[in-house]
Amino acid sequence: MAAKNSESAYGWVAIVFHWLMAPVVIGLFALGWWMRQLSYYDPWYRQGPEIHKAIGILLLIALLVRLAWKFLNVSPAAVPGTPRWQTVAARFAHGGIYLLLLAIMTSGYLISTADGRAISVFDLFSVPATLQGLPNQEDIAGEIHEILAWTLMGLVALHALAAMKHHFIDRDATLLRMLGKPGNPDGSRDSKHQPTENLSTSK
Ligand code: HEM
Repeated sequence: MAAKNSESAYGWVAIVFHWLMAPVVIGLFALGWWMRQLSYYDPWYRQGPEIHKAIGILLLIALLVRLAWKFLNVSPAAVPGTPRWQTVAARFAHGGIYLLLLAIMTSGYLISTADGRAISVFDLFSVPATLQGLPNQEDIAGEIHEILAWTLMGLVALHALAAMKHHFIDRDATLLRMLGKPGNPDGSRDSKHQPTENLSTSK
């Protein structure tokens, strides 16, 4: 499989980025939600946020590389037969996911560095505070971070449902091409669409 995308297929780099980042995004949301309910005396009270922040920074780096790769590549057109409104909706949804991720990471950075402390990434390197001491910075950035994270999860749920609809109802190649199987040029995905005489000759 090619590394780069084509007009009709995702290359392996985009596919690896997609499937590595998707569980990390959902995992970070789950960790963030869980760690907010911990009491001060819980051993995870400090450790949870440290891990959440460190993975968040690694995810930001991955996102920037992914976006650079995306803009250096063509983006595959929608699978043939996809109605125009769905193509436009998908474009907005994908753009919205990228923008929400960037905004969530920016607000997370502003929460963590509000008091001037750097973010340590598993003691490998640290990201210094830059914008600090804005009025109510930690609280306001925290509210924004939480609202945007829930919005992202809603959008991702819709996105996954749309992928399922393509796969199980429309039975087209949209989901499979994100798994490295681009399907047929007409957008169909399986041998059911081959002429029946091909199947009967095997007898
Ligand atoms: C946190 C989870 C997820 C995130 C952040 C995410 C994000 C994205 C983004 C940004 C794109 C556009 C790629 C591009 O730049 O062209 C995309 C494409 C895609 N995603 Fe996801 N995704 C997630 C989960 C899922 C899940 C769970 C599924 C399937 C059940 C899925 C199926 C797809 C498919 C099929 C495409 C290609 C759509 C097309 O060809 O138009 N994604 N995803």
